Amino acid sequence: MKFDFDTKVSRENTYSVKWDTEKMQGGKEILPMWIADMDFETVPQIKEAIANRAKHGIYGYTQRGKGYYEAIIDWNRKRHNWQLEGEWITHSLGVVNALFTAIRAFTSVGDGVLVQPPVYHPFYRAIKYTDRQLYLNPLKLTEKGYEIDFVDFEDKLRSGRVKLFMLCNPHNPVGRVFTKEELTLMGDLCLKYKVLVVSDEIHSDLIYRPHSHTPLAAISKGFQENSITCTAPSKTFNLAGLATSNIIIPNPELRQRYNWANDVADINPYNIFGAIACEAAYRHGEEWLEALLQYLSENKDYAVDFIEKNIPEISVVRPEGTYFLWLDFSRLGLSKEALERFLLDQAGLWLNQGHIFGSEGEGFARMNFACPKSILEEALHRLKAAIAEFLIHSFK
Ligand SMILES: Cc1ncc(COP(=O)(O)O)c(C=O)c1O
Repeated sequence: MKFDFDTKVSRENTYSVKWDTEKMQGGKEILPMWIADMDFETVPQIKEAIANRAKHGIYGYTQRGKGYYEAIIDWNRKRHNWQLEGEWITHSLGVVNALFTAIRAFTSVGDGVLVQPPVYHPFYRAIKYTDRQLYLNPLKLTEKGYEIDFVDFEDKLRSGRVKLFMLCNPHNPVGRVFTKEELTLMGDLCLKYKVLVVSDEIHSDLIYRPHSHTPLAAISKGFQENSITCTAPSKTFNLAGLATSNIIIPNPELRQRYNWANDVADINPYNIFGAIACEAAYRHGEEWLEALLQYLSENKDYAVDFIEKNIPEISVVRPEGTYFLWLDFSRLGLSKEALERFLLDQAGLWLNQGHIFGSEGEGFARMNFACPKSILEEALHRLKAAIAEFLIHSFK
């Protein structure tokens, strides 16, 4: 293997949110498998590009060059069959930052914003902190996995209160990669009821065969004009600490409003190292990404097979994209507090608690499997042993 994803690289004393926090400093060794970054080194050419720029020694105000835009355009054409124009690309410090900016730019206080829970928890924060109204179109868990409730979706839009739909595709935490047909139905309904789509596609490069990602905006000219698409190299190449995202807004009026909202908040999204890393990632990262996807896919299959075979008390749906497992612990009958304590204290695992993704997530937890396989194996064996122990005690 040309790239090494097996070696454990210590992240201690690197100011890592995942590894350098209080929870990790208790007596018991806790495995952190929560926040969405990977325990892998990034693409060698990205490290090199950053190191070369760092050597220069002057880090003044910066702008993006032609090569930056070309790299993004080429990547999207090649990987997502989506032909962008350079001027469509705007910026933000992060995708969550862009969600806040979009809500402020395109809706007013009191307007409705629709989301599909259980969903990435900062979506709720963005709606609450901007004093907008939360509207829910919960995904339905069927025998086939999570599906969209289109009848409810249209009901929510028909109310006339919803002005913006915040789509998460691929979906965090449930791991769905929505099909072109599903996206077309949602996009058409949004056009019909004049609801703007803000599509968070940050996980769009992390897709497992035979699934493939379709950018909603690439489906039709109508969708292109009625959407903003949030992208970033951060999940794909493990660059979240560089705070650099690219927000694609083909419609010039929308783009102007988005940029205005950024200016009003005095956000300067131009981080010099983020720009260098992004360009290097999209220019040189494809071979590394293919190797990563192979590794992640093996981790995913290993984990799902292990759970199905060894821990029948937990249900799991095989994810189509992202590096998360969405684990259903509800059969243990624990309250949300008790589940969190059980995972930390008995299993020694720090996962994201499901309830933060909405009440639909209660009884679930999200596990990040973007780590060396040996860590994943350890985590699953810990889980198996903790549940076996739990069952013995609960039958006493
Ligand atoms: C769906 C989704 N959107 C946005 C983000 C965060 O993006 P950023 O760090 O660029 O704000 C994440 C991180 O986990 C995510 O899963």
